[in-house]
Amino acid sequence: MSNQILKGKKGIIFGAMDESSIAWKVAEQAHAEGAEILLTNVPVSIRMGKVSELAEKLGTEVIPADATSLEDLTLLLDKAREKYGKVDFVLHSIGMSLNVRKKKAYTDLNYDFLQKTYDISAVSFHKLMQLLYQKDLMNDWGSILALSYIAAQRTFSEYNDMAESKALLESYARSFGYHFGVKNKVRVNTISQSPTPTTAGSGVSGFDKMLTYGEIMSPLGNATAEECASYCIMMFSDYTRKVTMQNLFHDGGFSSMGVSNAVLNFFKES
Ligand SMILES: NC(=O)c1ccc[n+]([C@@H]2O[C@H](COP(=O)([O-])OP(=O)(O)OC[C@H]3O[C@@H](n4cnc5c(N)ncnc54)[C@H](O)[C@@H]3O)[C@@H](O)[C@H]2O)c1
Repeated sequence: MSNQILKGKKGIIFGAMDESSIAWKVAEQAHAEGAEILLTNVPVSIRMGKVSELAEKLGTEVIPADATSLEDLTLLLDKAREKYGKVDFVLHSIGMSLNVRKKKAYTDLNYDFLQKTYDISAVSFHKLMQLLYQKDLMNDWGSILALSYIAAQRTFSEYNDMAESKALLESYARSFGYHFGVKNKVRVNTISQSPTPTTAGSGVSGFDKMLTYGEIMSPLGNATAEECASYCIMMFSDYTRKVTMQNLFHDGGFSSMGVSNAVLNFFKES
């Protein structure tokens, strides 16, 4: 169902790799809602994933960019300027931890990997916003979003160094949200999403159990990737112009729960 709530808007979407990616669903819904979008991902994910198929389906193109590289980001944003003039929305849907990937425990972190984790998963958000700001690429009343997880606020034993990455990411949304708001009414927010079966999500140790735990703890159940995409679309639309500098939980109620009957029943003696 489409209401064309993004009709006439132009956006850049980072992080669509395959059909499971949250960014993939956002791209599909943004297109269905009338937006024009430019897709981007890191070259290795373009080669290994399916984003080129998505671009073809949506009648757009994929611009390769490593989001940690100011040079790549500059080329990408120059391309966006050439194509659209200014843009109305940007989605940062990027996360990767080398410590998680190499199965390093939180109590035995490799600090070179840690720097990479921060750079890819959080500092890239600042780099992107700084270039958007300096190049004056955002239209007035535009919307910038990044995706986060509740491990930024609470301890999740297996989330490893991604927890601090998400805390930093959310802080960048608040700090840059101030500067972008004053400059030209652009809002900056993070959406804190339920565990979702994607390539990045499934890389976290014990992911299936976290998925089940989220499902039985949340009164509305886990939010799916499609539902997350719908929330992103609303945040890109003109219906949310005064929402900024927020971390918005999109988790079926999980973040407000202590314990649910479903969890209690799990421990019931038979
Ligand atoms: N899946 C979950 O359970 C979950 C929950 C909450 C938040 N999130 C967040 O959602 C976002 C999207 O992840 P996803 O779950 O859709 O998984 P995904 O694996 O489909 O997406 C992650 C993307 O990050 C991209 N990426 C990695 N390094 C990059 C770099 N240097 N430059 C540019 N792009 C790079 C990958 O190519 C990939 O497309 C991430 O920020 C993730 O932390 C995911």
